[in-house]
Parts: sequence; structure tokens; C-alpha cells
Amino acid sequence: MKAAVYYENGSPDVLKYEDVPDPVMGPGDVLVRVEAVSIEGGDTLNRLGGALVTRPHIVGYQAGGTIIDAGDQVKGLKRGQRVVTVNAFGSHAELRVVNARTAWAIPDGLDIQAASAIPVPFGTAHECLFEFGRLKAGETVLVQAGASAVGLAAIQLAKQAGATVIATASSEVRLAKLKAYGLDHGIDYAKQDVAQEIMKITDNKGVNLVVDPVGGATLPSSLASLGYRGRISLVGNAGRETQKVDVGSLMPGNRSLTGVFLGAEIATDRVHDNIQRLIGEVAAGRLTALIDKTFPLSEAAAAHAYIESRKAVGRVLLIP
Ligand SMILES: NC(=O)c1ccc[n+]([C@@H]2O[C@H](COP(=O)([O-])OP(=O)(O)OC[C@H]3O[C@@H](n4cnc5c(N)ncnc54)[C@H](OP(=O)(O)O)[C@@H]3O)[C@@H](O)[C@H]2O)c1
Repeated sequence: MKAAVYYENGSPDVLKYEDVPDPVMGPGDVLVRVEAVSIEGGDTLNRLGGALVTRPHIVGYQAGGTIIDAGDQVKGLKRGQRVVTVNAFGSHAELRVVNARTAWAIPDGLDIQAASAIPVPFGTAHECLFEFGRLKAGETVLVQAGASAVGLAAIQLAKQAGATVIATASSEVRLAKLKAYGLDHGIDYAKQDVAQEIMKITDNKGVNLVVDPVGGATLPSSLASLGYRGRISLVGNAGRETQKVDVGSLMPGNRSLTGVFLGAEIATDRVHDNIQRLIGEVAAGRLTALIDKTFPLSEAAAAHAYIESRKAVGRVLLIP
């Protein structure tokens, strides 16, 4: 099969388009012909500095396609069925093998490109807001990097739940695109002081919850934006910086900073079933998995470079 591979970590141009052996299926696995690869934020970070667990390494968490074979122990999924799949690596390829536990059926009528962009961003955003963030109707949430895929999912889910939604992005143009998905107030964090703007918007109360997929230099602004009993769901390192922070403001305000990692819970019944439900919500038109742009799989390097130019709002896909 053809795949986008690399032999060393680095900038997008380490990605090559090559012939590699087909993946081998186990009894609990499905073999999928990939039709759309969703380039996750973690894929660009892994390319930059993650472990090369295969050599050459095929990066990538998430892809949608059609099952062409299923192991003897697989229940509930069969050949010919469309699925969206998640695994620790291997999405940037014509074929992939995943355990059936991290493959979700795509309902009839849902476009495979949109479906391919759902499990990780929506599953993660849901964990940040509800399981770990304990968001309630009437509360105010700040979503850092609102134009990221996790951010866009969080904006929509928070709005659906009856929250007031504030988000940051690195330009006004990016913020303007978020209005259609439930954004109430936008903050351009390239130009404005986030915590000062939050205090203006919330009448000096601060927010109840921050979803922070950026970390690094952004995390102090998340802490400074919290109100009494405010919570932070720290979920990523998109800023590509070390995570050093002064937590001195947590105790006096009964505030909390919680790490969120979908990978540790994705195979539980709770999260597996919730992701299937979220796929249904997109299929029903109540949530949107926004696709920014598609590239051929052979142009994976250009696609990664485009994402790192920070122009994308929502997902960039590779099409084998
Ligand atoms: N813990 C988990 O379970 C989990 C699950 C999913 C994702 N994540 C993490 O969450 C983060 C976001 O993921 P995603 O898939 O939503 O990412 P994405 O769609 O690729 O978006 C990332 C966004 O981060 C912002 N950003 C801030 N500083 C940046 C920098 N130095 N370089 C590039 N972008 C920067 C950009 O928006 P602006 O230009 O508007 O700032 C960019 O659009 C990633 O770190 C990812 O690894 C974690």
C-alpha cells in the first residue's frame, strides 16, 4: 500500500509518500480501506517529536473508510460497513488495522469526510466540558484556540448545553468564522489581553470553566480568567511550549486544574458509546464537523505545513 511516512522527527517535509507493507490484522481487528484521513492536532505534534514506534513511521490517529476484512472475534461490525477509526498511529495510509473497539459505524447519509473528523475532537471536547469540567447550563466557558477542531467541538457542545461561550483565536478573521457555531464573544489573543477581556465580558466574575488545548504561555491566561470555583481542563500542547505555570491562584479561589486525556478512556463503554452518540448528532445536523480543506495523501507534507500556518478553521483531510 501507499502511505505518508517519515524516518525522523521534524518539520512537515520529513513526510514522504512511499510503498510500505500492508498492515496485518489480528482476531479482534478490522482492516479498513481508508477514504479520508483526519489530520489531528496530535499528528503534527507526533511528527515533530513523538516516538517512531514503527519504521518508517506512519503517523496519525483518525481515519474513515470501509471495512474490507474483520477478525474472528469482531462483533457488531462487518465487511462492507463504513467506519471511522482511531488508533495510536497509522492513519496516513491507504489501509489501516485497528481494534474493533475503536471503530465506530457511520450512519447512512453521513458523509465519510465529516464522519472521519468526529471521534477525537468531539469525544475530547465532551470530556473537557462535562466529565472533567462539570459544565452546567447557565455557566460561562472560555475555549482557548476556538478555531481548532477540539475548540470548535467544545464551542458547539457548550452552547448546546446552555452555556455562554467565549473563545480565543489568533485573528479576527478566525473568530468571525466561529459565530455560526455558537460563539458569544471572541478574543483575538494575538492582540488582546485574554484575562482583561474576560473580566470585562463577565463583569469581573471570571469564567466557570476553561478548555485549554494550547498550554504553554496560554495557560497563565487561562488561570487568570477563572472565577471562584473555576475549573480548567488542560487538554493539549498546541503551543509547543514547556508547561510551566504558577498555580498560586488555585487554592484561595477553590479553583482546579485538571489534565484530560481521551486516549486513557476511549475504549471504555462510557466513551465508546458517547462517541457513537456524537456521530449520530452530526448525522442529525445538530452538530457540525467542519472540514476546512482536503489534500491528496501524496501531499501530506503540504497538508501538515498548511495546518501549521494556522489558517485552517476545523479539520484538514488527506484523501488516499
Ligand atoms: N489530551 C487529549 O486527549 C487530546 C485529544 C485531542 C487533541 N489534543 C490536543 O489538543 C490540541 C488541539 O488539537 P486539535 O486537533 O484541535 O488541533 P488543530 O485543529 O490542529 O488546531 C490547533 C490550533 O492551535 C492553535 N495554536 C496555538 N499555538 C499554536 C502553535 N504554536 N502552532 C500551531 N497552532 C497553534 C491554532 O489556532 P490559533 O492560531 O487560532 O491559535 C491552531 O488552529 C493539540 O495539542 C492536541 O494534541 C489532546
